[in-house]
Amino acid sequence: MMGIQKVMVIGAGQMGSGIAQVCAQAGFDVKLNDIKQEFYERGLSVMTKNLSRDVEKGRKTEEEKAAILGRITMSLDLQDASDVDIIIEAAVENMEVKQSIFKQLDGIAQSHAILATNTSSLPITEIAAVTNRPEQVIGMHFMNPVPVMKLVEIIRGLATTDEVYKAVEEMTVKLAKTPVEVNDFPGFISNRILLPMINEAIYALYEGVASKEAIDDVMKLGMNHPMGPLTLADFIGLDTCLSIMEILHEGLGDSKYRPCPLLRKYVAAGWLGKKSGRGFYMYE
Ligand code: CAA
Ligand code: NAD
Repeated sequence: MMGIQKVMVIGAGQMGSGIAQVCAQAGFDVKLNDIKQEFYERGLSVMTKNLSRDVEKGRKTEEEKAAILGRITMSLDLQDASDVDIIIEAAVENMEVKQSIFKQLDGIAQSHAILATNTSSLPITEIAAVTNRPEQVIGMHFMNPVPVMKLVEIIRGLATTDEVYKAVEEMTVKLAKTPVEVNDFPGFISNRILLPMINEAIYALYEGVASKEAIDDVMKLGMNHPMGPLTLADFIGLDTCLSIMEILHEGLGDSKYRPCPLLRKYVAAGWLGKKSGRGFYMYE
């Protein structure tokens, strides 16, 4: 396997832009792909804001910021994947969308290229199955906000080879993140444990046990969580939270994973959390 040098990130949303930023910070050339130029530009403005804050705080120089941004280029066409060594997909949490992307990438990418997905919960094996290279498909699950959080959960699909696992592990270390190896089961480790807690907090609100502020305060002040579970749900995105609960419910077949009706109602209303301006709380 050749060393990884060129990277393509698919989806310039909150996760994709963060992944592109940390890859460029580590010296990789990055193509950042989205379906519309305005989505790429929104991602670029988030990366620029993050890097400007680093400059203000004395963590980076203006020259370093310019060099990092200079390694990131816009892509609006999946054909741009034809010369990269790894593709990290961070489009929406939807199996049909991801399978369609992976099918196309399989036909475009070089034969040695690794196809990774940042999915929060969708089975890696099922995404890999639509390609002719399931042994080169892997989960590379970054945490939000990507520039801050140290973990990358690396998920082996059923067919993923040791060689591909090692290459992704090595890249993760280059990104100054800590890799943790996990097998392909619904929700992996992170979201199998985190999301039922968030869903339970939503049930507590739904059943009138306490106000949203009280629920968040209990977990923040009582358990030292940096954010309360309802604030964290808004931060992750309520659509993503609902998708993950549905995957846990369907994949593990236990009623304890049933998504709270209030979560469904908020998503149906378009109250998706911070990214849409309203979730459990209001945002500017
Ligand atoms: N991008 C880049 N940097 C950010 C940032 C962002 N979106 N948000 C905060 N930061 C940086 C700030 O610059 C700050 O750094 P300095 O102090 O060195 O400048 C540092 O993080 C702390 O930020 P703040 O002081 O503004 O606020 P805080 O102390 O409350 O920390 C937080 C913010 C790091 C987000 C913290 O609240 C936290 O850890 N929250 C929980 C995050 C979490 O649980 N993430 C996992 C979500 S689940 C997931 O990702 C998996 C999935 O599949 C759904
Ligand atoms: P987001 O809604 O912020 O961004 C998704 C981006 O993908 C959008 O810019 C959208 O235009 C783009 N997109 C949609 N279809 C596309 C396509 N066919 N080709 C290219 N781009 C496309 O979502 P997000 O929060 O960044 O989540 C992205 C992925 O990361 C999801 O799979 C999610 O489950 C996962 N994830 C999310 C979090 C989180 O806390 N939000 C954490 C870890 C992993």
